[in-house]
Amino acid sequence: MSNVLDVPLSDLLDLAVGIAREAGDMLLDKRPDRPEVIQTKSSPTDVVTALDRAAEELIRGRIRESRPHDAILGEEGGHSSGENRVRWIVDPVDGTVNFLYGLPEWSVSIAVEVDGEIAAGVVNVVPRGEVFAAERGAGAYLLTTGERLRCNTGVPLAQALVATGFGYRPGRRAVQAQVLAHVLPRVRDIRRAGSAASDLCSVAAGRVDAYYERGPQYWDYAAGGLIAVEAGARIGGLYGKPYSPELTICAAPDLFEELHDLLAPLDPERDLPERDLSGTSGGEG
Ligand code: IPD
Ligand code: CA
Ligand code: CA
Repeated sequence: MSNVLDVPLSDLLDLAVGIAREAGDMLLDKRPDRPEVIQTKSSPTDVVTALDRAAEELIRGRIRESRPHDAILGEEGGHSSGENRVRWIVDPVDGTVNFLYGLPEWSVSIAVEVDGEIAAGVVNVVPRGEVFAAERGAGAYLLTTGERLRCNTGVPLAQALVATGFGYRPGRRAVQAQVLAHVLPRVRDIRRAGSAASDLCSVAAGRVDAYYERGPQYWDYAAGGLIAVEAGARIGGLYGKPYSPELTICAAPDLFEELHDLLAPLDPERDLPERDLSGTSGGEG
């Protein structure tokens, strides 16, 4: 097989950006005052609205119109196989709880994988009107201003503003709370914005110094992770493992090491069995 893609990567990024903008406009336009929850997933607070589904259908439809032979993995629609080297990774609404409540931190995240590696990505933080994008080896940009993004460097852990997030299941949250109790006195402060994709763009833009979280899935961090790396950040898991739903840490390389060494002894890749928690209403997942 040839190593040359059928189109330049920049064309795929342009397509992703156009689709992420269109989906964002549709979501803003169609969002009712209080969107209705139509399904819950891993726990009663892990919700899906009709517009999560509608946005993913729009995105899948647009990808298929232009690239009928590419594979697609989407949070709501699952995996559709393709016939070539390109796969699209889609989170139609990252930050659904914010979308539900009308908080201004939710995003449309689309990444383009080539031969199993993320090669381009876009995160449209719709309520803020900010579109972040990156192409592997070509830097990360806030497209809405044209600004090239660079993460903060030289920030010691004690001065770091650290973004994180929490899963939907009580057993996971109980451990996340223990970890947080250890981290919070040792950093400048914590932010929990509610969209992992947006958190990673905030690392890229120097709006926070670092991010860590257990639980986010590939569609949450595929695009945002590339944007952060192209802005100079390191992203990874514990003890040299790649970043994954087990744990994702992202920061400038020096701060990454410090945050890693703070987190590692806390064994943050574990969950409490749900049976050990009384008075919670979570389910499986
Ligand atoms: C969630 C958000 C949140 C993170 C969760 C994700 P969703 O995605 O990214 O910030 O803490 O782990 O599941 O459910 O809103 O698409
Ligand atoms: Ca998500
Ligand atoms: Ca989502």
